Amino acid sequence: MIDKINKYLEESKSFIADNLEEIEAFRIKYLGKKGIINDLFAEFKNVPRENKKEVGQKLNELKISLQEKINTLKNALEEKSDSHSDIDLSLPGDPIHMGTRHPLSIVRNEIIDIFKRLGFTISEGPEIEDDWHVFSALNFPEEHPARDMQDTFFIEKNPDILLRTHTSSVQVRVMEKSQPPIRTISPGRVFRNEAISARAHCIFHQVEGLYIDENVSFADLKQTLLYFAKEMFGEQTKIRLRPSYFPFTEPSAEMDVACNICHGKGCNVCKYTGWLEILGCGMVDPNVLDSCKIDSKKYTGFAFGMGIERIAMLKYGINDLRLYFENDVRFLNQFKSAN
Ligand code: PHE
Repeated sequence: MIDKINKYLEESKSFIADNLEEIEAFRIKYLGKKGIINDLFAEFKNVPRENKKEVGQKLNELKISLQEKINTLKNALEEKSDSHSDIDLSLPGDPIHMGTRHPLSIVRNEIIDIFKRLGFTISEGPEIEDDWHVFSALNFPEEHPARDMQDTFFIEKNPDILLRTHTSSVQVRVMEKSQPPIRTISPGRVFRNEAISARAHCIFHQVEGLYIDENVSFADLKQTLLYFAKEMFGEQTKIRLRPSYFPFTEPSAEMDVACNICHGKGCNVCKYTGWLEILGCGMVDPNVLDSCKIDSKKYTGFAFGMGIERIAMLKYGINDLRLYFENDVRFLNQFKSAN
């Protein structure tokens, strides 16, 4: 009887099936009511007692092996149908969603590119600064309102340490470390203690520039800024300089570009003036040069500083500063083509 069971074991192990019907026929043949297993169990009754243990184990082995065989055949069949019927290999693939550069990065890179073409290097410095680099070296009088708690984030335990309110601090660091000719821009994040609204934010981005050499004049400043405005806003762009005040420049000015929306006719973006203010500038005050150990009798220089948010607003017609920080993908996706 052992030989017979072994024969069935081998036979069933090598069985293969292509469809459910074949598997069912196989099951009935072995495990059905009138199947081989039941016949063998009937025969088992007549096995002499001393062989019962061995034959019984073999018989169980066959039964389990048949059950397993049926399961494996069924699973294989299911997998086969799964992998073939549901997938249409001719369908187009899922597109991979590409990220986009943030509009502020796009505009910052553009500004950097323009000044690089004029030979400016790029300087960076710390966002957490000391009073000297942000104010004192830049000729801010002790009682100047820009030092007021209103504008500056001070570190509570040490009022000498603060978050820089402009990247002019980087230029002080450059002047302290090197001698003219100096021609550098400093892009970076700045912080001011202001309530957040459509027109103001406590964090924003600047690019400031500095050029120091012998015989640098206001005409050089004007020409540099005109070149920048034309590169940034188009060849037809007109600029105008209005007298202004900064502690670190003398004379100082603010620069406007002709409104690129109404072209000077007047609209609500330029508040019907035809002009848009984009930066502050001036000739570096000799006191600043002296503070940084640069000979103010030999050298002169100009400096300028602009807000990246403002330039991007004008370039793309963005009307709320908060949009830059909310990171709503519906806003950010609009700058795909500008990448
Ligand atoms: N530092 C000034 C600001 O933050 C900008 C500026 C830079 C003005 C250089 C004149 C010269 O507003």
